[in-house]
Amino acid sequence: MIFNFLLFNILLVFVFGTSTTFVSSFSSIVIDEQALLSFKSSITGDPMRALDSWNSSIQLCHWTGVTCSRKRQRVTALDLSSLHLVRTLSPQIGNLSFLRGIYLDQNNFHGSIPNEIGRLFRLQYLNLNYNSFEGGFPFNLSHCLNIRNISMRANILEGGLPTDFSSWSMLDEFDLVDNHFTGSIPPSIGNLSSLRVLGLSANRLSGMVPVQLYNNSFLSVVGLTANGLEGTLPTDLGFTLPRLHTFYVSENRFAGPFPPSIVNASNLVAFEIIENKITGPIPNNLGSLYNIEILNLDRNPVGENMQPDDLSFFNSLVNCTRLKMLGLDETSLRGQLPNSIVNLSTTMEKLDLSGNHIYGSIPHEIGKLKNLKIFSLARNLLKGTIPESIGELSKLGKLSLHDNNISGSIPTSIGNFTQLVGLFLWSNMLQGRLPTQLFKVSTLEDLDLSDNKLSGVIPDEIIGFSSHCLYLNLSRNLFTGPLPSKIGSLKQLDALDLSYNKLTGDLPTALDGCLMLRELYMEGNHFQGKIPSSFKALRNLAYLDLSNNNISGSIPSFFDGIQMMFLNLSHNKLGGQVSKKGLFSNISAFSIIGNSELCGGIQALNLSTCPVKVSRNKKTAFSFKMILILVIVPLGIMLACLALMFYRRQNSQKLNEPIPVLNNNQYPKLSYQDLLLATNGFSPNNLLGEGRYGSVYKGVLEPGEHIVAVKVLKVEVHGANKSFLAECETLSNIRHRNLTKIITACSSIDHNGNDFKALVFEFMTNGSLDSWLHPSPNHHEGYEINLILPLILH
Ligand SMILES: *[C@@H]1O[C@H](CO)[C@@H](O)[C@H](O)[C@H]1NC(C)=O
Ligand SMILES: *[C@@H]1O[C@H](CO)[C@@H](O)[C@H](O)[C@H]1NC(C)=O
Ligand SMILES: *[C@@H]1O[C@H](CO)[C@@H](O)[C@H](O)[C@H]1NC(C)=O
Ligand SMILES: *[C@@H]1O[C@H](CO)[C@@H](O)[C@H](O)[C@H]1NC(C)=O
Ligand SMILES: *[C@@H]1O[C@H](CO)[C@@H](O)[C@H](O)[C@H]1NC(C)=O
Ligand SMILES: *[C@@H]1O[C@H](CO)[C@@H](O)[C@H](O)[C@H]1NC(C)=O
Ligand SMILES: *[C@@H]1O[C@H](CO)[C@@H](O)[C@H](O)[C@H]1NC(C)=O
Ligand SMILES: *[C@@H]1O[C@H](CO)[C@@H](O)[C@H](O)[C@H]1NC(C)=O
Ligand SMILES: *[C@@H]1O[C@H](CO)[C@@H](O)[C@H](O)[C@H]1NC(C)=O
Ligand SMILES: *[C@@H]1O[C@H](CO)[C@@H](O)[C@H](O)[C@H]1NC(C)=O
Ligand SMILES: *[C@@H]1O[C@H](CO)[C@@H](O)[C@H](O)[C@H]1NC(C)=O
Ligand SMILES: *[C@@H]1O[C@H](CO)[C@@H](O)[C@H](O)[C@H]1NC(C)=O
Repeated sequence: MIFNFLLFNILLVFVFGTSTTFVSSFSSIVIDEQALLSFKSSITGDPMRALDSWNSSIQLCHWTGVTCSRKRQRVTALDLSSLHLVRTLSPQIGNLSFLRGIYLDQNNFHGSIPNEIGRLFRLQYLNLNYNSFEGGFPFNLSHCLNIRNISMRANILEGGLPTDFSSWSMLDEFDLVDNHFTGSIPPSIGNLSSLRVLGLSANRLSGMVPVQLYNNSFLSVVGLTANGLEGTLPTDLGFTLPRLHTFYVSENRFAGPFPPSIVNASNLVAFEIIENKITGPIPNNLGSLYNIEILNLDRNPVGENMQPDDLSFFNSLVNCTRLKMLGLDETSLRGQLPNSIVNLSTTMEKLDLSGNHIYGSIPHEIGKLKNLKIFSLARNLLKGTIPESIGELSKLGKLSLHDNNISGSIPTSIGNFTQLVGLFLWSNMLQGRLPTQLFKVSTLEDLDLSDNKLSGVIPDEIIGFSSHCLYLNLSRNLFTGPLPSKIGSLKQLDALDLSYNKLTGDLPTALDGCLMLRELYMEGNHFQGKIPSSFKALRNLAYLDLSNNNISGSIPSFFDGIQMMFLNLSHNKLGGQVSKKGLFSNISAFSIIGNSELCGGIQALNLSTCPVKVSRNKKTAFSFKMILILVIVPLGIMLACLALMFYRRQNSQKLNEPIPVLNNNQYPKLSYQDLLLATNGFSPNNLLGEGRYGSVYKGVLEPGEHIVAVKVLKVEVHGANKSFLAECETLSNIRHRNLTKIITACSSIDHNGNDFKALVFEFMTNGSLDSWLHPSPNHHEGYEINLILPLILH
């Protein structure tokens, strides 16, 4: 045996010149193989059978994902990206001493990252993105002096950041986005003299950002969004970071003035400081940022230090010819809307100046911004009319002009919109009739014209909305006449608010076509007659308000069987017996006050008991009423039911039609892959909660590292598909507009070829991600998430 080996060795000395190389490299290969087999043995899941080739009958360098050096046949790279591997990372990885690259991204690794990784002194690339690694940062990585890229995005790592960065002189990219790191950013981060990309967004970091960070002159991408960081943005930022390309620091506690030197960072493409406490003035020479595409200052008091009435910075923005998005929502801006906004680049897609103190009127030439998709001037002091040229913005998806003093009529050019999804004009002084052109905008899902002075009848043409419309609010206007008989064609409708108008006639019997209807408000009109039995078909009804009308007859017994959140029948002319069952057993679920002829019901109502039988001594009026209740009403209901059955049989074909999916042209397009990455592969760690129709995940969406909630519909559950949009979008978009808004809907096919449907919501968190993941009842954020989650979960 020994002799054989010697012989073999001598032969090799002959061939290769030296035996020591061979022995060391032979044993090294064994070490590499052992390390890899140990790595393999920690597998608990390999659904794609990716590591089947990892066995001793195959040469190590031919194993899947293994790259060897040519000469010495040592393992130099391990690339096992996206193989859905479930495992821990064996400490033996530290024995693969020739490794230069480790790529384990998009798997399901858990457990800690072993410190043995620090023994890989040749290591240059470490990519552990999108896994479930836990525990602390592997501090021994500081021994890897050649490291260029450390990426651990979207894991559940915690604890502090490394405190000593002095050994990583080659580090180019350091990405720890979306983890649970705490503590502050150490000043020695300034030692990373080659750093180009720094991603620390969506962690739980706090404290001041060390000024040394801004001395890394190679820095190009800075992401600090959604932490609890403080400090000011250095005034010379644009000089010290001349290569700055992307600067995302939204949702922190940064204060102090807007850095004027930003105008000198001529490579800047995106600058987002949403939701901080940055004050003005906004420099009025921003025109030198030729490359800028995204400038988002939403929810900062930048207007506070500005000269009143000085919005001259808009004039310079005219020279930013690549600008796509300008966000100035709730920025305390004060002054007249400059006409120069019409000369902003035609590349503009989103312009948001809502929630300021801007007066004046919408410029007539607004139609020049041909590519606008989202346009908001809501919550300002605007007067004047909506210019006719608005119709030239044919790509518009969302127009928000609500809460201003805009007068005049709704321009007929509105019929030009072919992609409009949301039209929000409430709380203005609009008058005149609804232009029939409006009903041609068949893409509309959300129309709110409430609280204006609109008048005339609601025409039959309203069925133009039938294919998409989910939410229709015409309340608090001066509409007259009966409702159009075709209103039942609005099959997708989730909420209809017609309250406080001057509508007359009977309650519509055709509403039973609106099968999805969940909220119906008709209070404060002049409706009369009985509650039609067709209302029985509205099985999803959660809120029904018919109060303050002239409705007569009795309370139909089918209300007992509908699970409603609130039924308001108060101040009408209803009579007869109140049920004690179902809905009517819960005093906080209904109101019937102001109907003097009602009797019975639960004790808490304090109504008189209903007479048991008709006595001869009673007045004839009463007998007549009883006859009405006992004979005519049931007969009427029977007839109505028969008619309904007939009608439904006729229409059953139509009701089964597939429901069109949200046209997401108006919103950023997101693929299944994007959402997979954003939610760390729909990892259980990102799960916020589960409801009947779907699960809600936390996600971090690029670019901008926006924190979102992704609701994935359980398409296999009956009803989930139908309720895809109606379930969530309307609810979140409408009733809690200020809390959450939908970003997009994604309808596609997952990796297994199954239907995949998801809704993506934006969260306006006040502070860190932590506070909305683990809401405390004392905090406002906690309140928000408590309010939102049940709504979007349903
Ligand atoms: C090793 O892998 C090859 C290729 O996957 C397979 O054909 C062979 O059966 C495996 N051998 C053992 C011992 O598992
Ligand atoms: C490989 O690594 C493990 C754990 O770090 C260590 O215990 C073992 O001695 C190493 N094996 C060799 C052959 O170096
Ligand atoms: C980590 O580095 C220290 C020296 O800084 C060393 O003593 C320790 O053994 C290393 N740990 C591992 C697991 O390699
Ligand atoms: C590293 O950073 C620390 C703290 O900023 C500083 O004192 C030290 O001089 C730096 N070292 C190098 C090599 O730059
Ligand atoms: C930043 O760099 C400049 C010039 O290299 C130096 O004068 C200054 O002290 C540095 N600032 C910090 C905070 O390290
Ligand atoms: C900074 O930019 C402004 C506006 O373009 C320019 O006037 C100024 O000279 C620049 N300063 C430096 C130091 O480049
Ligand atoms: C816009 O650019 C032009 C040409 O470079 C220049 O003459 C003009 O002053 C700039 N306007 C503003 C408002 O910055
Ligand atoms: C917009 O630009 C055009 C052409 O450059 C110019 O004539 C017009 O005065 C500008 N309008 C405003 C309001 O600045
Ligand atoms: C409608 O849009 C077209 C281009 O999309 C435009 O040419 C036309 O002027 C618009 N009409 C109105 C009334 O705005
Ligand atoms: C109800 O009807 C009566 C008589 O028809 C009318 O005087 C009254 O104004 C109506 N009330 C409402 C709220 O419409
Ligand atoms: C029910 O309607 C009456 C009359 O419109 C109103 O005063 C009351 O606030 C309503 N109740 C609820 C809970 O909405
Ligand atoms: C009574 O109705 C209210 C309002 O819909 C609801 O919150 C509450 O849970 C109901 N109580 C019972 C015992 O069903």
